[in-house]
Amino acid sequence: MAMVLLAGGFLLPAQDNEKKEEDLKNPHEGKAEAVEAGRKQFLNSCSGCHGPNAEGGRGPRLLKSGVVRGSSNRQLFTLIKDGVKGSDMPPTKAPDEKIWEMVSFVKNLNAPAYEANASGNAESGGKLFHGKAGCAGCHAIAGKGGVIGPDLTNAGMSRSYANLRESLLQPSERPSEGYLGVTVTLRDGKKISGIAKNNTNYSIQVMDRQSKLYLLNKLEVSEIVFKKSSLMPEDFGKRLSKAEIDDVLAYVSRQVERVPVPGGEAGAKEQ
Ligand code: HEC
Ligand code: HEC
Repeated sequence: MAMVLLAGGFLLPAQDNEKKEEDLKNPHEGKAEAVEAGRKQFLNSCSGCHGPNAEGGRGPRLLKSGVVRGSSNRQLFTLIKDGVKGSDMPPTKAPDEKIWEMVSFVKNLNAPAYEANASGNAESGGKLFHGKAGCAGCHAIAGKGGVIGPDLTNAGMSRSYANLRESLLQPSERPSEGYLGVTVTLRDGKKISGIAKNNTNYSIQVMDRQSKLYLLNKLEVSEIVFKKSSLMPEDFGKRLSKAEIDDVLAYVSRQVERVPVPGGEAGAKEQ
């Protein structure tokens, strides 16, 4: 708490007690513009080693990184400013102000999307999600929407913003278990398309777009064709404008099962 109250100036270093040393305050804390500015600098100065999406390369992955998540502001700031001696991680000459923007970006990669201060307009995003963009045809939020895609009711807590962005713009080439698209042809010629929920030697379960579940005996089946790619459309980057993408992501980022209450769980209120 004390740290928050003292925010604004630089804190005096605490007595020689490393663990208790007060963390530095990021002057850009919680600002979406700083994250965006940091992203641009990262692309210029850091992505050659850490990858354009921070996925790693010559340097370690910074997305979903335990090291980043476990680091204080002070540690990240110092690491980016001074580099890591004896490794490829170089020091930077960027002014402190710019380094803090990169700290914002790197931290933001790892925070739950709900805390990431998405820059888009969540209200417009909600209209797109449940309307024109068609997301709700496949994804449910709080019981409303389709079941072909994963439920996004708690996406703001279970995913980072970077993760959601990647899912939207570059759906995985290999679909995850439980979301494989399939078309089953029965012996009588009838075709059933949807996602394969369970596939054994004897039977296959298929959920169609109306969320009707079919349990099909393999003896009745003449052909099963799996889709190679994910059912998540790959062209939202083209179908939606840049502003619309930001809005949809802002909306999805706001989706949490329970609104987190600063200071603990005890005060959580039902809405
Ligand atoms: C020439 C390659 C290179 C460049 C450029 C580079 N890094 Fe690194 N970075 C590394 C390597 C290698 C490590 C691992 C250092 C070690 O051994 O601890 C690292 C570690 C890190 C870590 C700690 C994460 C971890 O898992 O150890 C962060 C955060 C980081 N770099 C951020 C940045 C930022 C921000 C920039 C741009 C200003 C940048 N790096 C530029 C190579 C690079
Ligand atoms: C035709 C159905 C379909 C539509 C339309 C669709 N999605 Fe998806 N989406 C999927 C499927 C299936 C997956 C699971 C991807 C996989 O692992 O193969 C998925 C995955 C995702 C994920 C990752 C979720 C996770 O838990 O990994 C996000 C986020 C997402 N979609 C958001 C959206 C948004 C936002 C829209 C609208 C702009 C949208 N989707 C439209 C079918 C769809």
